[in-house]
Amino acid sequence: MDHFHLVDRALHCEGVSLEAIAAAAGTPTYVYSSATMDRHAAVMQQAVAGAGSGEPLVAYAVKANPNAHVLARLGKAGLGADVVSIGEYRRARAAGIAPERIVFSGVGKTAEEMAEALAGGLLQFNVESMEEARTLSAVAAEQGRAAPMGFRINPDVSAGTHAKITTGTADNKFGIAAGDALTFTREAASLPGLAVHGVTVHIGSQLVSLEPLEQAFRRLGELIAALREDGCDIRIADLGGGLGVPHGPGQPEPPSPEAYGHMVRRVTADWNTRLLFEPGRLIVGNAGVLLTRVVRVKPGVRAPWLIVDAGMNDLMRPALYDAYHRIEAVRPSGVSQVVNVVGPVCETGDTFTMDREMDRVEAGDLIVFRTAGAYGATLSSGYNSRPLAAEVLVDGDRWALIRRRVDPDALAGVETAEWQ
Ligand code: LLP
Repeated sequence: MDHFHLVDRALHCEGVSLEAIAAAAGTPTYVYSSATMDRHAAVMQQAVAGAGSGEPLVAYAVKANPNAHVLARLGKAGLGADVVSIGEYRRARAAGIAPERIVFSGVGKTAEEMAEALAGGLLQFNVESMEEARTLSAVAAEQGRAAPMGFRINPDVSAGTHAKITTGTADNKFGIAAGDALTFTREAASLPGLAVHGVTVHIGSQLVSLEPLEQAFRRLGELIAALREDGCDIRIADLGGGLGVPHGPGQPEPPSPEAYGHMVRRVTADWNTRLLFEPGRLIVGNAGVLLTRVVRVKPGVRAPWLIVDAGMNDLMRPALYDAYHRIEAVRPSGVSQVVNVVGPVCETGDTFTMDREMDRVEAGDLIVFRTAGAYGATLSSGYNSRPLAAEVLVDGDRWALIRRRVDPDALAGVETAEWQ
């Protein structure tokens, strides 16, 4: 459920008219609903409440939407953070998220990143290779600290999602093959400075079936038992993120967080570990839209081209993953038309959709791309010397600009030429 709805025949976010936001902040602009984020955070926390031993931790995957004000809101809603760079770590800390609620994931953490996060504090590093474990050991030894550590297994399970957002098969760079886990933990346990107490798995994103997740979790469960038998004290199982979100009518309907929670409880019942979760999209995906204005309608051979002022640089998902985003007129006319929706960027990939039936709109009208709160603004670029879109946060009948539009001229200030 989200808080974007029609009021007096025009789309509003909570109590604020999107027309008013466009008039004041310009377009393209990402608009986020605080109430929707709060609701999704609460639904996820309730779905897993009481699962595992000890308090479950829902660590929001910061990569989905790292805006400082979004993070602060989610931190207040009780979420921790899953970070994949020192930049995300700093943002999570700056947003007030406590170190013991932060996990550090990712295959390419540098020694410098590890050193800063270890000194600053965190719940655990999710380590993805023996090579990484050795670097972490050296960093920890240098600081005279024990680095809390989990390690990620690659269960070789196909997630049934787009290939570019699949992470848990043997063809993916992520994790340690489940078969190598015993050798890995023995070697890691023999290194100084490492406190190995966790395991983690994350098989992909926008999953619309629980089956691959259950399969991966079962492998993790078997591994926990084998590791314990081998004398390794596993206390934390981090089940990653990946649960899909609804994209609208005609699109695959993902399982509910409640169904996910039931499955988790069933599979982990005898694990005797604390459970961690790393949802990103689930929390913010449907809490955001990209608000854009139609620049012009150009006649086409099969269907008219609706050229909007947002481009692939603002919302990469259709170009990168052929992703579907529901498109709605901010002031629906009630008359439908079939159009191709494209941006102004000089690439054919700058196509949001072809042959889409939607409300008839004209030059100057506003439309939204739905489900743009996750992996929207954060994936954007300044390609074609276009500004980075503005971001707005709505809270009830108030709104705030939470990121100003970044003008390409601002880049001129950092384009230095210091010849050596
Ligand atoms: N944990 C780890 C280790 C991850 O790699 C990810 C996402 C998550 C958690 C959060 O997954 P979520 O709950 O959001 O599905 N840019 C792509 C998605 C890439 C996801 C990368 N990893 C997209 O726009 O679909």
